[in-house]
Amino acid sequence: MKYTLITGASKGIGKSMAQILASKKRNLLLVARSSDLLQNLAENLNQQYKIETDWLAVDFSTEGASQKIHQWCIEKNYSIDILINNAGYGLSGPFENYSAKDHTDMMRVNMNVLIELCSLFLPELKNAPEAHILNIASSAAYQAVPGLSIYAASKAFVLRFGRGLQYELRNTHVRVTTICPGGTDTDFANRANLNDKARKAGEKLNMTSDEVAKQAINAMFAGKTEKILGFINQLGAAFVWLLPKKLVEKMTAGVYSQE
Ligand SMILES: NC(=O)c1ccc[n+]([C@@H]2O[C@H](COP(=O)([O-])OP(=O)(O)OC[C@H]3O[C@@H](n4cnc5c(N)ncnc54)[C@H](OP(=O)(O)O)[C@@H]3O)[C@@H](O)[C@H]2O)c1
Repeated sequence: MKYTLITGASKGIGKSMAQILASKKRNLLLVARSSDLLQNLAENLNQQYKIETDWLAVDFSTEGASQKIHQWCIEKNYSIDILINNAGYGLSGPFENYSAKDHTDMMRVNMNVLIELCSLFLPELKNAPEAHILNIASSAAYQAVPGLSIYAASKAFVLRFGRGLQYELRNTHVRVTTICPGGTDTDFANRANLNDKARKAGEKLNMTSDEVAKQAINAMFAGKTEKILGFINQLGAAFVWLLPKKLVEKMTAGVYSQE
């Protein structure tokens, strides 16, 4: 029996992806920090869709988080053919407003754990007749974002890594898909402490987590390597490519920095 492992499944885009995959009769392993949310979701999806579900509460910013997830799968005999690296968050405001630990904790969640899970699960993914890795990056991956500098850099890392890994695995049965959503209505803005300007822009442009999840899952099963979600975000990435970097940085700072 095969499972899909989803990180950051307790809420937002991860929860929406769990609901869609459950409706497609995929067995699910749900991981994040909030045990009560994970337990409720796992029980509801199990009852509603008659699929196998389990959950594990882990804080990705702690040492050994990835090994704990991998060990849990070994002990419970869970074999996965889809790995969805979705857990992530941002911290908005000047770089100096946060401690080095604040930054590196976020980097662990957004990057290190994603890499470790790919590394730990790749041998078994390669053994499956068809397997997928779905990484959630961001439209922030396409340019520096003053006021969200580390977050944008971490998502550029996810995007570059995902493309590189997909090329390395091109002759295997594992497809690597990297998704770049723009603003999405989730808890992201609260956790990142986004300013009013960024929230106001989001009110007009944000996609719903269900729409983002649907497009992400479709892109994964279609074997796409990279997908920017939403026409406005696709247009934005094209402009960023065309315009001088300093101008783009001034424009993004105008939205995200708290000066
Ligand atoms: N919303 C947007 O505008 C947007 C845009 C582009 C990309 N994204 C990306 O989409 C992904 C999902 O975010 P979202 O928008 O759905 O935000 P969200 O609603 O805040 O969900 C974030 C998920 O990550 C988990 N998570 C956060 N910190 C964690 C930690 N230390 N250890 C384990 N799990 C942790 C959260 O679970 P717990 O709190 O239960 O731990 C939650 O399940 C992220 O990678 C984000 O960067 C979001």
